[in-house]
Amino acid sequence: MTVVYRLPALTALAAALSLWATPALAQRALDFAPYALPADGAVAVPVRKGLPAEGSYAELDRATGGALSRAAATAGYTGERGTVLNLPGVGAYAQVLLVGIGSDPVTPRLLEDVGGLVGQAGVTSGAPRMSLLWRDDSVPAAGAHLAFGAALGQYTFRQYKSPKPDAPVLGQGELVVQVADAEAARRSWTADWQHVADSVRFARDLVTEPGNVIYPQSFVDRTREAFAGLKSVEIEVLDEARMAELGMRSILTVGEGSARPPRLLRIRYSGGPKDAAPVAFVGKGITFDTGGISLKLNEGMWRMKYDMTGAASSIGAVLALAKRGAKANVVGIAALAENMPSGTAARPGDVVRTASGQTYEIMSTDAEGRMVLVDAIWYTQREDQPRELIDIATLTGSQVTALGDEYAGLFSRDDALAARLIAAGAASGEEVWRLPLHPSYAKDLESPIADLRNAGNNTGRAGAGLGAHFIGAWVAPGVAWAHLDIASMAWRDDAPLPTTPLGATAYGVRLFDRYIRDHVEPAGR
Ligand code: BES
Ligand code: MN
Ligand code: ZN
Repeated sequence: MTVVYRLPALTALAAALSLWATPALAQRALDFAPYALPADGAVAVPVRKGLPAEGSYAELDRATGGALSRAAATAGYTGERGTVLNLPGVGAYAQVLLVGIGSDPVTPRLLEDVGGLVGQAGVTSGAPRMSLLWRDDSVPAAGAHLAFGAALGQYTFRQYKSPKPDAPVLGQGELVVQVADAEAARRSWTADWQHVADSVRFARDLVTEPGNVIYPQSFVDRTREAFAGLKSVEIEVLDEARMAELGMRSILTVGEGSARPPRLLRIRYSGGPKDAAPVAFVGKGITFDTGGISLKLNEGMWRMKYDMTGAASSIGAVLALAKRGAKANVVGIAALAENMPSGTAARPGDVVRTASGQTYEIMSTDAEGRMVLVDAIWYTQREDQPRELIDIATLTGSQVTALGDEYAGLFSRDDALAARLIAAGAASGEEVWRLPLHPSYAKDLESPIADLRNAGNNTGRAGAGLGAHFIGAWVAPGVAWAHLDIASMAWRDDAPLPTTPLGATAYGVRLFDRYIRDHVEPAGR
């Protein structure tokens, strides 16, 4: 069977503008076949460090009469993990791709990285068919992990690029994963991993779309399309009128400077036992963050379309769980608003009464993420009584400074929850690093006229922790809570990772899927 990705439907707006031509299918269809050395075509093989004289690499070398090892020696290629040697035209082969796996043990993560590197190389290859050979069968359904990596690695977003008639055709055709047990791989892919890959890609599309295409209502529309027909799913959308009835002045305030009103999107997936309290994922969904009246500088502001990554990843994770039929109860919330400066925008110094009744003073309208999140947290606590609540947000520049692009910041007062998230991070490759929530942060957020203020005096001081503390002030006692600040992780800038090409990462989908897989599903809660 051949799996062909369907491109997301263009929005009505994009469709109406003929200038945005229908995009060409920009990825290879994934398929599986039994392990066998092809006689020609494009072939990717893993190489252990030191280029051992056995395995696929050695077989392929013999088939090319030693041309392969001569090329590798000339290039100084040693098979270091994560390195790729791309050789067009070796003997009868149109292309040989050597993928280094070092001397690490084979794990699902390693397989995903191998698949990701091959997927990325496939984007720039004109070969109509690429074979990825993997003979080792020590990891069950190894081929599904290779395919998962390949699907993530070959992600591109070219919706708005006009087709060039005489451009060479690259990145089209198929990618065939050839493994010892092709049927096991196909089963695991079709029932499970394909859905996670599709959901990551869905979230990446939402994040990459510009702010004139994705705003609160269009985020909701696209999400409804993605969930259409899925079982055990309830979708609720609060518009500005309903938010006003509920007293959600906090999210409403953020949206008040924009012509596009805010939305609160809540999706409940009930795949677990009837009486089990759900895990709630609450995502910051600022579809564009100008800073509002506390206006940002223009430098890099374009990227603030990504400020809804937390929302896209929360919803993307629930989509993955629903599609693969996870045995778990989860809620995904997207707190959606656009942060714009205008005559109707909130001012610094304004006091806001949130839905919970708690008030705060605005120090910066650019600290808007926490403002939309607290009403969303109040609402899911009221509606869903979650057992655990994990919020996820591109919240602070301070997190970027502290952790760079290796780790998201994790804040939690619950050691067990923190440990589970750290474990899920390591297993999924979307890693988190715990940072403190010191009681002194309460002092920094005291206001002379309201219950709290939304930012401290000195933004240079523990900014990520203060943001976390503010959000935590709306979490009910008895709810296990964690906050993930993913400002540095949501957009990949300089060097691509095997499963994370440049641009939107949709960080969080894999982490949350892994969290539910390892810590909720096995216990049957
Ligand atoms: N969306 C930004 C966070 C951000 C800033 C991400 C820079 C990546 C790079 C957020 O809304 C924001 O503006 N945060 C402020 C908070 C401050 C005003 C307390 C920040 O971090 O500067
Ligand atoms: Mn901001
Ligand atoms: Zn923001």
